[in-house]
Amino acid sequence: MTKTCSMISEYFDKYSIKEIDKYMEMGGFSGLKKTLDKGPDFVIEELKASELRGRGGAAYPAYKKWTAAKARPEEVKYVLVNADEGEPGTFKDRDLLARDPYKIIEGLTIAGYTVGACEGYIYIREEYDDIRRQIIEAIAIAKDNNLLGNNILGTEFSFNIKAYTGAGAYVCGENTALIESMHGNVGRPRVKRPRVGERGLFGKPTMVNNVETYACAATIMNHGSDAYSSVGLNGHKGSKMISLCGNIMRPGVYEVPFGITVKEIIEEIGGGTRDLSLGKFIQSGGASCPLIPYTHFDTEYGYHTFDDNGFSIGSGSIVVANGNVRVVDYLSAVTSFFEHESCGKCTPCREGTKRIHEIIDDMCAGSASMAQYQRINKISHTMIKTSLCGLGQTAPTAILSAMKHFEPELLESIED
Ligand SMILES: Cc1cc2nc3c(=O)[nH]c(=O)nc-3n(C[C@H](O)[C@H](O)[C@H](O)COP(=O)(O)O)c2cc1C
Ligand code: SF4
Repeated sequence: MTKTCSMISEYFDKYSIKEIDKYMEMGGFSGLKKTLDKGPDFVIEELKASELRGRGGAAYPAYKKWTAAKARPEEVKYVLVNADEGEPGTFKDRDLLARDPYKIIEGLTIAGYTVGACEGYIYIREEYDDIRRQIIEAIAIAKDNNLLGNNILGTEFSFNIKAYTGAGAYVCGENTALIESMHGNVGRPRVKRPRVGERGLFGKPTMVNNVETYACAATIMNHGSDAYSSVGLNGHKGSKMISLCGNIMRPGVYEVPFGITVKEIIEEIGGGTRDLSLGKFIQSGGASCPLIPYTHFDTEYGYHTFDDNGFSIGSGSIVVANGNVRVVDYLSAVTSFFEHESCGKCTPCREGTKRIHEIIDDMCAGSASMAQYQRINKISHTMIKTSLCGLGQTAPTAILSAMKHFEPELLESIED
């Protein structure tokens, strides 16, 4: 029995972008039509009923963000798709944009109408150049078909979308750094307050959501919150796009119902690990998220069940490690990533990522002392409390979770 589902990914590979008539015959853009018919409050009620949370990592309830954006009194506002997709192991936004670009255009247009925005932007990771070209063509075709531009579908609503190439750094996925880079400044985070929802792109209120969040909004408006919610298992609502990789037989992008267990994802969807074991641990949600040891593989994949155990759904990536992977080697890759991607603006992150990486590499070589090992805790907690942005605040998460779940193995790497 297949454990995957196809709500968000319902139109994957079923059309080419020139076939917009076929797309609409299949049901595409019916969520936008319903939105224009029923009005913004209906959209927000549907998002609330579906319990949709943002898919970019922080899992903030979508209806709250959309309500706050709608309430802004300014005449000019923007909606923005965060397609920077920089979290290691994450590659599902690329698939959403490449295999169903019209759904992202539809979701963004629904958002624009709901919050009262005049213009939308898609901020695309620079490596996704082909996808950016395709989305620009899809925007033009949608405009020719009165799905964008002036008086959309004969209503008084007018809305345009532009694509923008990302600045090529992981930190540019962070909202304030993203906006800074769009302004032509160095892509570094700034102090929050004002938030981008208050003063974002060109100084105007800007609602930023992940690619998948917009795809979910279009799906929910197309099929209704009840239908979307009903695909979840064991009392969970809805589904999630995941990118499965690492030591797994069938890596790839899948849509899974919330409520499926980690074990089912690994074995039934991923085909098991490459050494045919159940696996040693996974890292779910990105490099900034905790490791999940095999003893917890019966946990249901869902926001509440993961929160209860201190795990993260995050961006939807699942990196699988089999029995041959040394935890300390895995941590070396994670800490090297953060040292490289720290923008250097604030001291705790700039220095902390470097010092932790040094200690982990000493542990890999078997030359670290107990004092160094203990220092990881102190540096980590300083970073969590005092770093300016989410990068520094979450960089130590994987290590701290490894110290909790794999301490005996880590201590084998200590010299004295
Ligand atoms: C260092 C860093 C990198 C991030 N990268 C991304 C990213 O690539 N894509 C994304 O959607 N969100 C990313 N985020 C989260 C965004 O700042 C933001 O919370 C998200 O786009 C909001 O959309 P959502 O509510 O739909 O999740 C990043 C955050 C941080 C701190
Ligand atoms: S926490 Fe790191 S990435 Fe964020 S502003 Fe400080 S140095 Fe830059």
